[in-house]
Amino acid sequence: MTRQVVLQLEPDSAKPIFLNLAAVIIREIERGRLKPGAALPGTRSLSKALGIHRNTVDAAYQELIQQGWAVTLPSQGTFVAEDLPDTPPPRSRERPAPTVAAPPRKSIDIAFSDGAPDARIAPRAELARAFRRAVSAPSFLRRSPYGEPRGSARLREALCEYLGSERGLVADPGDVIITRGSQMALFLVARALLRPGDAIAVEDPGYQLAWSAFRAAGANVVGIPVDQHGASIEQLAKLAEREPSLRAVYLTPHHQYPTTVTLNAARRLALLELMHRRNLILIEDDYDHEFRFDGRPVLPLAASTQSAHIVYVGSLSKLLAPELRIGYAIASPKLIERMATVRQAIDRQGDLPLEHAVAALIADGEIRRHARKSRQVYQARRDKLAELLQRHLASFCTFDVPTGGLAIWLRLSQRLDAEQWAAAAESMGLGVLAGTTFALRPRHAPNAFRLGFGALSESELSRAVAILARSRPRSG
Ligand SMILES: Cc1ncc(COP(=O)(O)O)c(C=O)c1O
Repeated sequence: MTRQVVLQLEPDSAKPIFLNLAAVIIREIERGRLKPGAALPGTRSLSKALGIHRNTVDAAYQELIQQGWAVTLPSQGTFVAEDLPDTPPPRSRERPAPTVAAPPRKSIDIAFSDGAPDARIAPRAELARAFRRAVSAPSFLRRSPYGEPRGSARLREALCEYLGSERGLVADPGDVIITRGSQMALFLVARALLRPGDAIAVEDPGYQLAWSAFRAAGANVVGIPVDQHGASIEQLAKLAEREPSLRAVYLTPHHQYPTTVTLNAARRLALLELMHRRNLILIEDDYDHEFRFDGRPVLPLAASTQSAHIVYVGSLSKLLAPELRIGYAIASPKLIERMATVRQAIDRQGDLPLEHAVAALIADGEIRRHARKSRQVYQARRDKLAELLQRHLASFCTFDVPTGGLAIWLRLSQRLDAEQWAAAAESMGLGVLAGTTFALRPRHAPNAFRLGFGALSESELSRAVAILARSRPRSG
């Protein structure tokens, strides 16, 4: 039925024909004539109907796919995406069609994320199959549909095996709670561990959403500085001296968020010593462990000691996709029990079929295969971004090629202002995160960008760096 939607090119358009056609199709999607999931006409019939070359239709479809308006299904054709882009693609390069009444909107065409993975390479078909099996299983129809607030026992077992062999963690299922992303784990730890008025030390710059979780429990969030060796444990020790209410410290030791550095060995030892001496709890957020490209593997602090002082938090958001809300925490069974009790107040249990599906992907080796494959893709993207930055921006910025993680931390020369530059880039359709996004004390915000490369293909990286270079403020 949808194949019969009649399309007409904009007359007198200055655009290349494929962009003209792409714009017409986007307009029909926005107007609701082409609905999410609807099949687009075949390239042959549309090229005939419009009197244009079939390759031109194909190029228009590629443009739509790249912008997120359409998807291709192998041997089925091209369809309007179910999940349409939040913001329309930029109109600045395109003259608005005379019939469109919508006001012009400034929009982001391409963005450096804060370190997101590329869902396009996630094992979606395998996950869909495993999910279908989980929903079809007889256990799905059992009499008591409510289960464990700590999450599926199958997934907790599979995770313990996986984390044991991949990260050297010794845990059993009673030490684990599965959560909806690590954000929920951070929230539950905070509620279970902190009392209003307690202080918690965090890295500055660091991860704002963790601070929100701690503040929601009534805690005071206090920053410690970060340098090329990671968070300053010396400053943490000083804070512990002067702040009797300091109860915990939240760190991203593997790939510090946002600067990407790894906490060095001397500081790890000093931290463990301080935690035991001062009775501090460490919340270790190991959000993208799999993506280590060079050098020796660095194991989590939680692997170096079976201490009741460490809560280890992880996520499948970077390994698979943030859309799948699966995270976890590993801690003493007593703390896990407390977290499970808090969890029940807001969410009786997790999404069991999804948890079973992920357990199956871990058990049958799919997650490991995907980790291996995606590590190669991301390493190539890291190298590509480093090469582009070196070629186009070396006179204005410095950076270290990160040994792991999905972002490069780009330090700007003092002549340039990161926020001003980010605003200029945005006006040209490029999203980029300036240091203020990560600063606990805005006046001390680093003059830097965090450039997530994981979600961008190599050609998208080239396009993004070209815009970044073009948008550089000239005043400085
Ligand atoms: C520091 C840090 N921790 C954790 C996460 C993962 O969050 P979630 O598992 O809730 O998707 C992210 C994702 O951006 C992150 O940057």
